[in-house]
Amino acid sequence: METTSPNLKARYINRFIHKVYGCSMPLFPVDLMDRKPIGKSNEFVSAIGVGTWGIRNYLDAEKALRHALSIGLTLIDTAEIYGSGRAEELVGRVVKDFSRDVFITTKLPPERFRDRDEAVSAARASLRRMGLRTADLILIHWPHKSVPISRQVKSLEVLADLGLCRYIGVSNFNADELVEALESTSKYELVVNQVKYSVYDRHVERDLLPLCIREGITIQAYTPLEGGAVAADKTLTDIGSKYGKTAVQVALNFLISRPSVVAIPKSERSERIGEFKGALGWRLNDRDIDVIERVSR
Ligand SMILES: NC(=O)c1ccc[n+]([C@@H]2O[C@H](COP(=O)([O-])OP(=O)(O)OC[C@H]3O[C@@H](n4cnc5c(N)ncnc54)[C@H](OP(=O)(O)O)[C@@H]3O)[C@@H](O)[C@H]2O)c1
Repeated sequence: METTSPNLKARYINRFIHKVYGCSMPLFPVDLMDRKPIGKSNEFVSAIGVGTWGIRNYLDAEKALRHALSIGLTLIDTAEIYGSGRAEELVGRVVKDFSRDVFITTKLPPERFRDRDEAVSAARASLRRMGLRTADLILIHWPHKSVPISRQVKSLEVLADLGLCRYIGVSNFNADELVEALESTSKYELVVNQVKYSVYDRHVERDLLPLCIREGITIQAYTPLEGGAVAADKTLTDIGSKYGKTAVQVALNFLISRPSVVAIPKSERSERIGEFKGALGWRLNDRDIDVIERVSR
């Protein structure tokens, strides 16, 4: 019986190659795309987007978000609970002035998916806050522990049925929960699983990322900067200096070099948004990816 996962095998092989050659192949084939498809659709979004959690100064955040859209970081992440709805209102104010291909993800808390009526009224309230008729993508923010996943997914599909969103997905679902969610869909594909993923926290690489690559589900990597901690990382800084890039840009580039992964860092400072953009348009070489894979915690 086959008991070793392909990913585990790759690790063993890599360890061997590393012993012999002093450098291994990246654990995943390097994805060179700066615009990546949403799930299995033919629609592409920027591989780096912008998050809206934990905003301290809404005026600064609005400027930063406008700047993001103007330089082509057109993937925006928000949620009902961010700033108790204020983040969605901010997104709405900003996107109404942009006709370009902005792609908005919002998330509703899991209790909203107990039944269809609750899900519909929560989605409508969210759309009202954003001044939109439809969202691009609505996610279950995290799996409800006592409502069956099949029921949550059924309520989620109603939102797509009613045209309240164009795509549906989940967030914080582990591999088992994601498989259950996939098996629960009847009409629509789940296009995204939004999960924590950074150079310091790569637990998704074990099961979840291989599963998402296989199933054509995009991972939206949240907290990709570990709240800003990666900015001071010496290894990342040293690697970045060879490319004329910062540690933050290296950390983001590492993530988007993985197939099916986009990253959604947050900043309310325009200059940092510009820094995020600098993670696009190039790729770390195999040797540097290998260094990060070996030294990251
Ligand atoms: N689905 C979920 O459950 C979930 C959970 C958490 C987050 N998210 C989403 O993912 C987004 C990003 O995650 P996150 O906000 O947790 O963490 P993050 O993007 O890793 O870090 C954001 C923090 O890093 C700071 N920062 C940004 N650039 C920096 C730089 N160059 N140097 C130093 N500090 C820097 C930001 O401060 P400034 O704003 O002052 O620049 C902010 O405090 C969120 O905004 C949210 O949209 C989703």
